[in-house]
Amino acid sequence: MTDIGQDRILVVDDGAENREILVDLLGSEGYTVDTAVDGAEAVEKALASPPDLILMDVSMPRLTGFEACRRLKADERTHLVPIVLVTGLVAREDRIQGIAAGCDDFLTKPVDSEQLIARTRNLLRTKSLVDELEQAENVLVSLANALDAKDNYTRGHSERVARYAEALGAEMGLGRIECRNLRRAGLLHDIGKIGTNLEYLHKPGPLTTTEYEEVKKHPVVGFEICRPLRTMAPLLALIRGHHERLDGRGYPDALRADAVPVPLRCLTIADVYDAITSDRSYRKALPRDRAFKIMSEEASTGMWDARLVDLFFDKVQHLD
Ligand SMILES: [Fe+2]
Repeated sequence: MTDIGQDRILVVDDGAENREILVDLLGSEGYTVDTAVDGAEAVEKALASPPDLILMDVSMPRLTGFEACRRLKADERTHLVPIVLVTGLVAREDRIQGIAAGCDDFLTKPVDSEQLIARTRNLLRTKSLVDELEQAENVLVSLANALDAKDNYTRGHSERVARYAEALGAEMGLGRIECRNLRRAGLLHDIGKIGTNLEYLHKPGPLTTTEYEEVKKHPVVGFEICRPLRTMAPLLALIRGHHERLDGRGYPDALRADAVPVPLRCLTIADVYDAITSDRSYRKALPRDRAFKIMSEEASTGMWDARLVDLFFDKVQHLD
C-alpha cells in the first residue's frame, strides 16, 4: 500500500497501556491500527487478514513474540509482512533469538516516538515495493495458468509440476526457501510458450525440425520474460534449464551432470513425469507404472538422476 491511510498495522501487547500508547501514536500519523492481546491472537488475526506491519511485544502469555514471529514468517500468507519486536529485553541473546525467529527490526521499550514513526515509514515503504513485485509475479502466474487452460493437453500442468517439484525437493532435504522456489518455478516454467505457435503445440504428429527448433525456444523466452523482475532471480536458472538433461543432450545450454544442480533435477523429473502421464496431442496419457519404467530406463542411460527418479516414484507420485 502506498497510500498511508490504507496501511494497516497490527499492534500486539498484553499490556493495555502499552497498546494504547502505540495505537495513539500510529493513529495520529494516519495509520489504521488493529490490536491483539497476545501472540496467539496476533497469529490468528494476521493469518486471517495480513496487515502491512506488525509491532509485537516479546514476553506475552499463551504465545511469546518470538514464537508468533516464527509462525508468521513460516506461513505463506504472512512471510513478507515486516515484524518489529518491541521489547524491554536488550540482552544480546534475546536479539539473536529475535533474528532467528525472522523479525525485521527491534524497538526498545519505552518506545521513542520519533524512532517508532521513522522505522514504521521505512518498513512500510519496503513492504509496498515487495507487494508490487509480488503482484507482478502473480500476473505472470495467472498468465501461465491461462496458457495451460487454453490447451486441453496442458490444463493444470504447471500446478502439478509445481507440486511435484516442491515435494521432491522436500524429500531430498532441500531447505524451505529452495522448496518454495521450486514451486514458484514450477508454476512459471512454461511461461515462454506464450511466444510459441499454438499449431506446433497442438500438432497431432511429430514436429518438423524447424517446428521443433521453434518450440525449443520457450525456456529462453520464459527466462527473458522473468529476468527483469528482481524477485525472480532465484527462479531464472530453473525456468531456463527445465529441459536440460544430465547427459548433456538437453536444451538450451546442453548442461551436463554436475552443471545440473539438485533443484533443477527435481523440476525436470516433475515436468517429464507429468508430460508422460498426461494426454498429449501426439499420444495418450501413459499409466504411472509405465512412466516409472520409461524414466528408470532413461535414468540408467544417464538422462536423469536415478536416485531422484526412485525417490519420486517412492514418495511423490502419490500426491494426486
Ligand atoms: Fe517446457
